[in-house]
Amino acid sequence: MPHNTVLTRIDGDLDAALDRLMTLLAIPSISTDKAYKADCDAAADWLVRDLGSIGFEASKRETPGHPMVVAHGGPAPVEGIPHLLFYGHYDVQPVDPLSLWDTPPFEPKLEDTDKGRVIRARGSSDDKGQLMTFIEAMRAWVATHGALPCRITIFLEGEEESGSPSLVPFLKENAEELKADIAMICDTGLFDGKTPAIVTQLRGLLAEEITIRAATRDLHSGFYGGMAANPIHVLSRICADLRDDNGGVTLPGFYDDVPELAPELKAQWEALDFDPDHFLRDVGLSVPAGEKDRTTLERMWSRPTAEVNGITGGYTGDGFKTVLPAEASAKISFRLVGQQDPEKIHAAFVDFVNARLPEDVTCEFSNGHGAPASVMSTSDPAFEKARQALSEEWGTEAAFVGAGGSIPVAGHFKEILGMDAMLIGFAKDDDRIHSPNEKYDLASFHKGMRSWARILSALTPTG
Ligand code: BES
Ligand code: MN
Ligand code: MN
Repeated sequence: MPHNTVLTRIDGDLDAALDRLMTLLAIPSISTDKAYKADCDAAADWLVRDLGSIGFEASKRETPGHPMVVAHGGPAPVEGIPHLLFYGHYDVQPVDPLSLWDTPPFEPKLEDTDKGRVIRARGSSDDKGQLMTFIEAMRAWVATHGALPCRITIFLEGEEESGSPSLVPFLKENAEELKADIAMICDTGLFDGKTPAIVTQLRGLLAEEITIRAATRDLHSGFYGGMAANPIHVLSRICADLRDDNGGVTLPGFYDDVPELAPELKAQWEALDFDPDHFLRDVGLSVPAGEKDRTTLERMWSRPTAEVNGITGGYTGDGFKTVLPAEASAKISFRLVGQQDPEKIHAAFVDFVNARLPEDVTCEFSNGHGAPASVMSTSDPAFEKARQALSEEWGTEAAFVGAGGSIPVAGHFKEILGMDAMLIGFAKDDDRIHSPNEKYDLASFHKGMRSWARILSALTPTG
């Protein structure tokens, strides 16, 4: 098999690849926090240099937010061999609460655990470890064959974890340059620890931030309690009212554009060997919450939700302070499916909140952003080829699955660039992405690189 030499090269270069990943992981590229602007920039610079060292024509592209990294490599496109675009994001989530980390989040460490070796650091799994799997596969390919097997564009974003404000304008302005035959997005997980997966549908997202205000200042709750409006109570009622007793979302019209799961897909998902009890037990739970009449996979992959992600207000320090706060705020997000339109849901949410504001109480809506759900078309023959390549590497038939998370770029690639996306990644459910002590299995990193080498070979007849 022609890719064997590339696989051998990947195996032999593993330690050096790990060193490179560790260097990238040490850069605290937290995109949502302005204090880390220079670090986001440094991560982009590092990637440009690294891609340059493999022979890519790589550049850092400024945006009003954090820069994009774009790189081109391989021969001019030819008929019959696809031009591939690889996507990943170099930004990471904030680390708080820092006190819950066992090791500093930006001092990456290789650790032996009872489940094997892991790379511990913020961003190891989401998404630096993953994006380095395809970069390393290409490095090994070039080292072995002297050149890439097809035209390859690499597109790395630095704002994914903060709503991608610059993404759509950037794609529109650079559409000609970025257009390829198919996009490979490496930002998802394995189906279980050993079964590789291609994600064929993602939920969308609507994020909302609301601040409820009443009196012009904090008030003594002995003088004013019982007669002045308390923003925390108003906010709590709004949050509580968002769900009914069955876990359904109560916004009027919320389910208008939610389709029932197609019978073929239902059967496909039922055939997957998924154990909901184990899934919950792993995080210390035993009773599923949410819509009682839906299977766990449906709740996760094809049903919309409302979740309060953060809530602040009043006195939260040590001891006790008898106060009516002047304001209270919450961050709330909706996962969207089917044809649910983020703008329509936003409008319904604004009405829903306003209908629950007593006189004198106001609500400010800020920082809202959204993206609809996306369903991938799997008709391109590349999907079946990639599935086979993955199955060979992992020794288990790769599964077509859904994902509960959101990766808006998949939809933008389709709409703006007319390109289908193939979502392949090697994260595991216990990677603790967005949580303290994030990790990426060394096996995910190693087999991830090998998977891309096999996929490259399968998609390029001359490879
Ligand atoms: N990589 C995740 C999304 C993901 C995780 C997809 C697991 C499939 C399986 C991505 O980085 C992410 O966290 N997306 C955010 C959306 C963003 C707008 C903040 C999300 O899903 O909350
Ligand atoms: Mn991600
Ligand atoms: Mn993420």
